[in-house]
Amino acid sequence: MQIFPRELNYLPLALAVVAGGLGAGVFILFWVYFTPPNLQVGYTPKQPVDYSHRLHAGELGLDCRYCHSQVERSYEAMVPPTQTCMGCHAIVRTESQ
Ligand code: HEC
Ligand code: HEC
Repeated sequence: MQIFPRELNYLPLALAVVAGGLGAGVFILFWVYFTPPNLQVGYTPKQPVDYSHRLHAGELGLDCRYCHSQVERSYEAMVPPTQTCMGCHAIVRTESQ
């Protein structure tokens, strides 16, 4: 007596096709949607101090290492403490908020 019908031989193949399709679907989902144009939606929160790299490192030409003093020694570049800023800002732009 035959318990399973003969067509069941194709089941592994059918499952493989479905799994492959799902895999490709997930891959395309990540490929298309998890890209910078979709993730970086202009998130620029207002900071308490309106610090600008363009001004300090760009126009004024400050060395990065003046503020990020650990960058060549540690895996953390370090964000400068307020004292680093006040070295200049105790005399520069003292009227500014
Ligand atoms: C006057 C001090 C100063 C100088 C000079 C400076 N930075 Fe910064 N940097 C900061 C501060 C303060 C922050 C944190 C606030 C911010 O992100 O704007 C920061 C943040 C950064 C970040 C983001 C770090 C993070 O974890 O998101 C990068 C990258 C960076 N700086 C690169 C540079 C490079 C490259 C240079 C040199 C061309 C430079 N910085 C020069 C003060 C400075
Ligand atoms: C080497 C000196 C120096 C250091 C260090 C420095 N600044 Fe400045 N900063 C300046 C100069 C010069 C200006 C421009 C002043 C002007 O335009 O009259 C300025 C301008 C600014 C302004 C704009 C002020 C305004 O009212 O428009 C901000 C905000 C500022 N700095 C924040 C910071 C912060 C935060 C740090 C530390 C991470 C820092 N600065 C470190 C020299 C410095």
